[in-house]
Amino acid sequence: MGSILSFNCKRYSLLKSPKIIFKNTYKTLDSWSNIPEHIKAKQGRKLFLQNGHPLCSLRELLQRQFRDKSINCVAKESPVVSTITNFDSLGIPKTHVSRSKSDTYYVDKDTCLRTHTSAHQLEEFKNLAESKMSKKGFLITADVYRRDEVDASHYPIFHQMEGAYLWDRNDKAGMLRDLEQVKLDSDLQKLVIDEATLKDHNDLQDIYSLQETQIASIHLKNSLVLAIHNLVLMTPDNGLDKSQVRYRWTYDSFPFTQPSFQLEIFWKGAWLEILGSGVVRENILTQAGIQNHVGWAFGIGLERLAMILYSIPDIRLFWTTDDRFHKQFTPNEITTFQPYSKYPLCYKDISFWIDESFAANDFYELVRDVCKDLVESVDLIDQYTTKAGRTSLCYRINYRSMEKSLKNEDVDLLQVNLRKALASSLNIQLR
Ligand code: DAH
Repeated sequence: MGSILSFNCKRYSLLKSPKIIFKNTYKTLDSWSNIPEHIKAKQGRKLFLQNGHPLCSLRELLQRQFRDKSINCVAKESPVVSTITNFDSLGIPKTHVSRSKSDTYYVDKDTCLRTHTSAHQLEEFKNLAESKMSKKGFLITADVYRRDEVDASHYPIFHQMEGAYLWDRNDKAGMLRDLEQVKLDSDLQKLVIDEATLKDHNDLQDIYSLQETQIASIHLKNSLVLAIHNLVLMTPDNGLDKSQVRYRWTYDSFPFTQPSFQLEIFWKGAWLEILGSGVVRENILTQAGIQNHVGWAFGIGLERLAMILYSIPDIRLFWTTDDRFHKQFTPNEITTFQPYSKYPLCYKDISFWIDESFAANDFYELVRDVCKDLVESVDLIDQYTTKAGRTSLCYRINYRSMEKSLKNEDVDLLQVNLRKALASSLNIQLR
C-alpha cells in the first residue's frame, strides 16, 4: 500500500473465528459481552487517520522522526482481537488484572477490543520474518480501548503508537553504526536524566550479553528522546520555557520486555509519564519465527502527548465535531489550542449502598453510556462503612459540555436517567 501506511488489519492470524462488526452490532454475544452503545458509536471514527486532526498530525510527525530507519508504518483498523493476541502472545499472566471484565471490553469470552497496540507486536514481527527481515522494525498506530475512570485525561477509547527495531546478533558492526546515528549532542544530553543505566541492574535476559542489552537500550532511549525533543522544538513557545524541559528514564516492568523502561517528560513544572519500553523478550521473536535477533519496543499514548504539545486541556475535545476545534489546526503542524469558551460547570451528587460485586469502572461506564460526553469528571467524594459492614459511596458528577451551556433541566434529566440506569443495571441500592 502507500509508502506511509499499509492497512493489513485482516491478518489476525491468531483469531480463532473472526468476529465481524455489522453497523456497530456485534454478531457474537455471551455473558462476557460488555461493550456499551457509546463505544460502538465511536468505533470507526478513526481520528488518527483524519487529515488535520491533532492525533493524525502527531502520528504523521512521529512517523517522520523514524523515517531514516528501515521500518514499516502500519495502521490497524479493526480493534477486535482474540484474548490470545491481546494478552497471551505477550506473556501477560492469566490472573493479570487487565484481563478482568471491569478493565477490558469483551465481545465474548475469547474476543476483546485491543487494550494496547502491543497486541499487534507478534503479528508484525511475523510479517518481518516472512519478508526475510527486509525491514528492521515497525510503527503501528491504532485506537485502543480500556474501561477507566472519568476525568480530563481518561477516555475509554484512545490511541497508541507501538514501535520496534531489531538487529541480527551477528551484525555487531551494524548495531554500533546505528548507535552512532542516534548520538545526542551535548546540549540535549544535559536535558536527559537516566536513572536506568543498567550498570547495577542484574535482571537481564539470559540469552543476551550485557553489551547487546546496553546497545539496544541506549539506541532505544536516544531514538525516543530525539524524536520527542524534535516535536518539542516544533511546539510554539506560548508561555513555555523550553529550557526547563527535561527527560527522565526510570525502570519499569512489562511482561514482554526485559529490562523495561519508562520515559517521563518535565513539562510546565510537572513530571508526566509518556511511554513504556524495553528490550523485546526473545521468546516473542522466536514465536514469530525470528532467530538470533535482539531489539527494542515501545508504546506511546498519543492523546497524552498531544495534550502536552497542543495544550489541549480535556481529552473529550479530540472527539468533538465542533468546527471551532478543528479549524484551529493545520495538518502536520503543532499549534497551541485556543480555548473557545468554557461553559459553566454543574454538579450533582449521587449516593448508593454497594456490595462486594461493585466495580467502580462499571459505574463510570454507565455514566458515559447515559450522559455521553457531557460529563467532565466523576469524583468519589465520600465513602463510609457502617458497623454492620454496609458500605455507602457518594460520587459527584461534574456536568459540562464543551459545545454549549447546559440547561438546568437537561442536567436534571440526565441525572434522573442515570439514577434509573444505575438502579436497574448495577447491584446497588440508591439512597
Ligand atoms: N503496551 C504497554 C501499555 O499499554 C506499553 C508498552 C510498554 C509497549 C513496553 C511496549 C513496551 O512495546 O515495550 O501500557
